[in-house]
Amino acid sequence: MANLFFVPQNIITGENAVQMSMQYIRGFGKKALIVTDDAMVSLGNMKKLTDELDAIGTKYAVYSGINSEPTHSMIDAGVGIYQGTGCDFLIGIGGGSPMDSMKAIAAVAANGGSIKEYTGKKLEKPLPPTVTIPTTAGTGSEATKVSIITNTDTNVKMLLSDPRLMAALAVVDPVFTLTAPPGVTVATGVDALTHAIEAYTSRKAFPLSDIFAVSAVTKIFKNIYEVYTNGSNREARSEMATAALEAGIAFSNASVTIVHGMSRPIGALFHIAHGLSNAQLQGVCLKYLKSGAIEQLCGLAKAIGVYRSGMTAEEGADAFVSATTGLLQRLNIKTLQECKVPESDFFQNIPKMAEDALASGSPGNTRRTPSKEEIMALYKELWEEGVKKA
Ligand SMILES: NC(=O)c1ccc[n+]([C@@H]2O[C@H](COP(=O)([O-])OP(=O)(O)OC[C@H]3O[C@@H](n4cnc5c(N)ncnc54)[C@H](O)[C@@H]3O)[C@@H](O)[C@H]2O)c1
Ligand SMILES: [Fe+2]
Repeated sequence: MANLFFVPQNIITGENAVQMSMQYIRGFGKKALIVTDDAMVSLGNMKKLTDELDAIGTKYAVYSGINSEPTHSMIDAGVGIYQGTGCDFLIGIGGGSPMDSMKAIAAVAANGGSIKEYTGKKLEKPLPPTVTIPTTAGTGSEATKVSIITNTDTNVKMLLSDPRLMAALAVVDPVFTLTAPPGVTVATGVDALTHAIEAYTSRKAFPLSDIFAVSAVTKIFKNIYEVYTNGSNREARSEMATAALEAGIAFSNASVTIVHGMSRPIGALFHIAHGLSNAQLQGVCLKYLKSGAIEQLCGLAKAIGVYRSGMTAEEGADAFVSATTGLLQRLNIKTLQECKVPESDFFQNIPKMAEDALASGSPGNTRRTPSKEEIMALYKELWEEGVKKA
């Protein structure tokens, strides 16, 4: 079977990537809309970017209103600013939220209407040039053809996927991630780990996506605990930034599966950070997946060095599952209960969450494909796990 592999037109990685990017950005247009959040402004990350834009004489307008995971109203507002300020290209700087918002604003600016109507829509018209600058080592949005926006009318996290959402230029400078606090570092790092595991075990995986997925899993196992406990380790931060990029490339081509499918409804309804809800789900979902993906999980055990000679493939798969659950324990992932999710609301919403998970299409890529009843049972198991840990 043939497979098409998508990546951004250009990717610049390493320290001073922003400076280097200016030789490309100067050709993108006359005025950029910079989409970001207030933290990027107060941390000085925005200034690092605008100093460089000033130096090449490129104008810009700033929209720093993405102060939570993005909603449809934030995108509508951003489109108004883009059009009202005469911008002709866009830069997203921040975590996945500002980068996804920037891509969604570009999509609507070119294709019209409201982002609420974009679920499953093919983007007919090309987007203006887009630049992604991640400051978390997490979503990989810098190099994915995906944007995730919550429709707050329906409480659904819409998964928009279209090749036109791929950035023209991704600029990955790991220095930006040095200021991420431990909670953000872990949640975003586990998001990247989940992308890589899901891409590798997806029914849509193929040899080229596997290379990126395995490389990302290996780097994350080596470095995530270090960046959690010693955030100023530049080398470990750099490895994580590369891993997140690789994991993004892997899943953008091979798709995510059950964890992401089940995680988005939790995020939409209970406002738990995306990476955190992935981390919470990882254990129960890996145990569910195992019988359908023994060979793949055993392959990952070999990659991270927990496979021992003489083990059967199933023992190898078990070794990977327990290495992952052990790692998550050391990262002190908060449970649903610790995130103050009310029990009655959670149980009442299980049928809706299961339906929304399936409707996103992601669970269908899982090698052991779940039914609605099985997803509902997994949500219950997730709750029970939190009770046991209390
Ligand atoms: N497009 C994709 O391919 C893709 C993939 C996975 C997830 N997502 C989406 O991305 C969003 C989550 O993105 P995220 O996990 O990067 O979080 P985020 O962008 O929401 O940021 C989380 C918090 O970290 C802060 N932060 C970011 N960088 C920082 C830094 N360097 N120093 C200090 N603080 C920093 C932000 O200000 C914010 O308060 C979700 O909506 C999720 O669904 C998109
Ligand atoms: Fe994700």
